[in-house]
Amino acid sequence: MINRKLLIEKAFEAQKFCYTPYSNFNVGAALLCDDGEIYQGCNIENAAYTPTNCAERTAFFKAISEGKKDFTAIAVVGNKKGIQQGEGDFCAPCAVCRQVMAEFCDLKTFKVIIAKSTAEYLEYTLEELLPLAFTGKNLD
Ligand code: THU
Repeated sequence: MINRKLLIEKAFEAQKFCYTPYSNFNVGAALLCDDGEIYQGCNIENAAYTPTNCAERTAFFKAISEGKKDFTAIAVVGNKKGIQQGEGDFCAPCAVCRQVMAEFCDLKTFKVIIAKSTAEYLEYTLEELLPLAFTGKNLD
């Protein structure tokens, strides 16, 4: 079972730790593992730009580096600094993050929750966000 309200709250909590001096665009993510554990992530920018890590990948890499392999859902929140909860646009995961999710998650069952607040969110399967995914199966 996914506690969507809790997962979105955890994403907002993670957003507080963003390091975004270049874009001032703050993203928070909360990744729910099948065992119920939640890993939080924020975006971490860099003066050289390309080393920047998105919030979603921060959460995934934290979880995977601690032995987690099975994932249920991720909540993502993102907005320019100073925008209040519930305002602004929905922040959908970038294509690189979707590809990382496809490496570790079931396309048909993994859920991506894109929230403006705990009351206002969109929910997709990973397959809806990444149709015709290129995965390890292509390399078999
Ligand atoms: N960003 C994320 O953290 N996740 C996304 O899926 C979209 C983009 C970050 C990267 C960069 O720090 C800032 O948002 C602006 O692109």
